[in-house]
Amino acid sequence: MSHAEADHDTRRSRQWLAGEARGAGVDRDRLLELGAAMAALTAAADEREPVAVAPAPVGVDPGTPIAKPLPPDLLRRLDTNAEMRWTALAGQGYVVPNDRFFVRNHTVTPHLDADTWRLRLFGSGLRDAPTRHAPVEFSLDDLRRLPAEESTALLECAGNGRRYFAEQQDDPTPGVAWGLGGVGVARWRGVRLGTVLRLAGLRDDAVDVMPEGLDPDYVTGGVNLGRVRRPLPIAKALDDVLLAYEMNGERLPADHGFPVRVVVPGWIGISSIKWVGPVEVSTTPLFSPWNTRFYRMFGPGHPAEGTVLGAQPVKSAFELAWDARVPAGAELLLRGRSWSGNGPIDRVEVDTGDGWRPADLVAADRGGPWQRWTARWRPPAPGRYTLRARATDATGTTQPDRAAPNALAYLFDGIVHHPITAL
Ligand code: MTE
Repeated sequence: MSHAEADHDTRRSRQWLAGEARGAGVDRDRLLELGAAMAALTAAADEREPVAVAPAPVGVDPGTPIAKPLPPDLLRRLDTNAEMRWTALAGQGYVVPNDRFFVRNHTVTPHLDADTWRLRLFGSGLRDAPTRHAPVEFSLDDLRRLPAEESTALLECAGNGRRYFAEQQDDPTPGVAWGLGGVGVARWRGVRLGTVLRLAGLRDDAVDVMPEGLDPDYVTGGVNLGRVRRPLPIAKALDDVLLAYEMNGERLPADHGFPVRVVVPGWIGISSIKWVGPVEVSTTPLFSPWNTRFYRMFGPGHPAEGTVLGAQPVKSAFELAWDARVPAGAELLLRGRSWSGNGPIDRVEVDTGDGWRPADLVAADRGGPWQRWTARWRPPAPGRYTLRARATDATGTTQPDRAAPNALAYLFDGIVHHPITAL
């Protein structure tokens, strides 16, 4: 069975439209009503409204928008989210330190108590079909006693780069106006989801696994869509998915999913559910608004029901401030990083105003989730310049001059024009 997200979606879309898949907690007709045809309109309204949070049940701490400090030199706040400043990576190593890792919250960061927290698995895909109210439970200590694994994986929001649709392509778009800072690589440590599923009594005929976050319900356009959740096919769940309790050698920070989050390498960020609690394991296909309504491409070139987002496209960023000031006449070592959801980066080129030339790739990074690179440049005279970087991945895909527009403005892969002034 294929693990590619697009293949999974094609199968599930067919099953769902035929009434064979269940929208787990969300009425299918209501979802269809809210779905494809409305997507462009509702998205525009949704994203401009302040995020509505369903009131926390009595006795439950409602949480804080973002728990960690947001120093402006490291992070830029965007409503309930924060993007990393690319200058904050200058002089750093391969991974993004936790204090500057981007945060994408649909609502708020909940305050969870690790002592009472439990992972709760239930559903027809487990032996004896435990129910949501009588699930198979694991405490944090139970998970820590299981064999631990480490994985260096990239997380990226599907809307990363969205602001350049408007700024560079004159294509104003709804949604969180991410620059290029909705991405990061971390060293995650935890237990394989597959190990836990097997211990919980996984059946041979299970097909989907749906982790749910314990953050507040997501309310948009007056509709409560319930907890943030998104299904994974069993083949992916048993492959490289991690239940992570550490990030870069530290206890998982509150904003990144404490005490435990899912990490789904290679899939768009929404798959990596934070603050995971309930996990449904099902012998029938599952759906949620996070793969039927959001995280789909709508608009010209896409069918009415949209196309699910597959792998992230190729992107590149300079580790430089936007409109940085540099001395004219002095040689600079420009640094940056490129990445692609299709696999490793093979080639990066840089243009400082006089044509494309190859950048030097950091050899140690070859084959990893992102690739650092450098290029020398001496600004010849004072003035304004535009820096551009474009990468080519192992499938031969190169960043285009313009990204393909789509109603919800996902997957920007165009070459970004980075302004810089030499003084
Ligand atoms: N999980 C829950 N429970 N709630 C959320 O809002 N956001 C998702 C995903 N997991 C989200 C979630 C999205 S859209 C992204 S891009 C990643 O978490 C971001 O992870 P980070 O905030 O640790 O960078």
